[in-house]
Amino acid sequence: MKAVVYEGPRHVSVTTVPDARIERHTDVLVRVTTTNICGSDLHMYEGRTDFEPGRVLGHENLGEVVEIGDAVDRVKVGDMVCLPFNISCGFCANCEQGLTAFCLTTNPTPGLAGAAYGYADMGPYNGGQAELLRVPYGDYNCLVLPEDARERQTDYVMLADVWPTGWHATMLACVQPGDTVVVYGAGPVGLMAAYSALLRNASGVMVIDHHPDRLAKAEEIGAIPIDDSRASPVDQILELTQGMGADRGCECVGFQAHDPEGAEHPNMTLNNLVRSVKFTGNIAVVGLFLAHDPGGRNDLYKRGQVAIDYGTFWSKGQTMSTGQCNVKNYNRQLCSLIHEAGARPSWIVSQELGLDDAPKAYAHFDARDKGWTKVVLHPNGAA
Ligand SMILES: NC(=O)c1ccc[n+]([C@@H]2O[C@H](COP(=O)([O-])OP(=O)(O)OC[C@H]3O[C@@H](n4cnc5c(N)ncnc54)[C@H](O)[C@@H]3O)[C@@H](O)[C@H]2O)c1
Ligand SMILES: [Zn+2]
Ligand SMILES: [Zn+2]
Repeated sequence: MKAVVYEGPRHVSVTTVPDARIERHTDVLVRVTTTNICGSDLHMYEGRTDFEPGRVLGHENLGEVVEIGDAVDRVKVGDMVCLPFNISCGFCANCEQGLTAFCLTTNPTPGLAGAAYGYADMGPYNGGQAELLRVPYGDYNCLVLPEDARERQTDYVMLADVWPTGWHATMLACVQPGDTVVVYGAGPVGLMAAYSALLRNASGVMVIDHHPDRLAKAEEIGAIPIDDSRASPVDQILELTQGMGADRGCECVGFQAHDPEGAEHPNMTLNNLVRSVKFTGNIAVVGLFLAHDPGGRNDLYKRGQVAIDYGTFWSKGQTMSTGQCNVKNYNRQLCSLIHEAGARPSWIVSQELGLDDAPKAYAHFDARDKGWTKVVLHPNGAA
C-alpha cells in the first residue's frame, strides 16, 4: 500500500510499505478515505520527538471497513467509521473511567500510558496517512458514522482529534454559559476550542495568534481575534475584560510556542495565560509538552522543564488541567451535533489533496504558510 513515511527532520515521502492487515481477532481493517495532517505531526516532522524514521504518520483517520477479525461483533464490513486518535482497550482501569488517552494496556513501553496511530512514544502502531489502517480493538475504537458519512467526510473526520480536543479544552477549563474565554493559538485545535466555547454559550471568546489568515477563521465564527504581533496579548485581554482577565483560558499551542519573530519560549503561553485569566480562573493546557526536548533552546527546556510564574499562578488561586484528549468521551455527542444540529467543523479545512501531495502539504503547513490552516488527504482518491 502507499503511505506517508517519516524519513527524518522535515522529510516525508510517499512510499510503498507492506499492507496493513488483520493481526488479532479483535482488529478491524479500514480503507482510509480521509486523513488529516495535524499540528502534532509537525512536532514529529521537525524532528523534535523520538519518532522513528520509516514509520507511517497519521492519527486523524476516517474510512470504510473492508475486513473484520473473527472476534469483532458490532462493526460490519462496509461501515464508515471515524477512529479516535487514541488506541485504547476498553477494559483497563483508566479506560473504565473514560480516560482512554491514558490506556494502560495498548502502549507496550513500560512507564508510558496511552497509545495512538503513527505517533512518537505512543506505541508501535502505524498511522493512517496510507491506503489501509489496522484498528486494534475495533469494536471499542470505531465510531460508526451515520448514513451521510460519505458525503460529509471533512466534517466527520474532525471527530478523530481536533474537535474533541478543542471541546476537551473547554471541559478542562470548566467553561460555563456566560463565561469569557481566552484561547492561545488559532491553529486547528485553537479554532476548535473557540468553536466549542461558543457552542457552550461563552459570552465572549478571544483568540490569540499572529497569523492573520488563522485569526480571520476565528472571526468567521464570532470570536474576537487578537494579534500578538501588534501589542502584548495580555494587555489586550485585560483591556477587553475591565482589567480582570478572562474567566477561563485554553492553551492550544504547546512547547513550540514562540514570539512573533519566531524564537521559541515553551513557557510563553502558560505565563500569558496566568496573567490573562482572572483570579480563581481555570486554565486548560491541551497544547503538547514533552518530558524531554533535546532540540530545546536551553538546558531547562532540554530537560522538559518549563519555567512558569508559579507564584503568580498560586496567589491567583488558579487551576491548571492538562493532557491528551480522551476522544471517546465526546465523539458520539459531537457526531450528533454534525448529523442532527448542523455543526460544520470542516470550516477550518483549507486544502483537500491526494496522498502524493503529502510532502508538499507538510512543508506548507509546517511553514504556517498563508491559507494552509488544515490539510485533508484522500489516500484512495477523491472522497
Ligand atoms: N491534547 C491533545 O489531545 C492534542 C490533540 C491534538 C493536538 N494537540 C496539540 O495542540 C497543539 C496545537 O495543534 P494545532 O494542530 O492547532 O497546531 P498548529 O501548530 O497548526 O497551531 C498552533 C498555532 O499556535 C500559534 N502560536 C505559536 N506561538 C504562539 C503564541 N506565543 N501565542 C499565541 N499563538 C501562538 C501558531 O502561530 C499556530 O497558528 C499542538 O501542540 C498539538 O500537538 C494536542
Ligand atoms: Zn491530531
Ligand atoms: Zn485501556
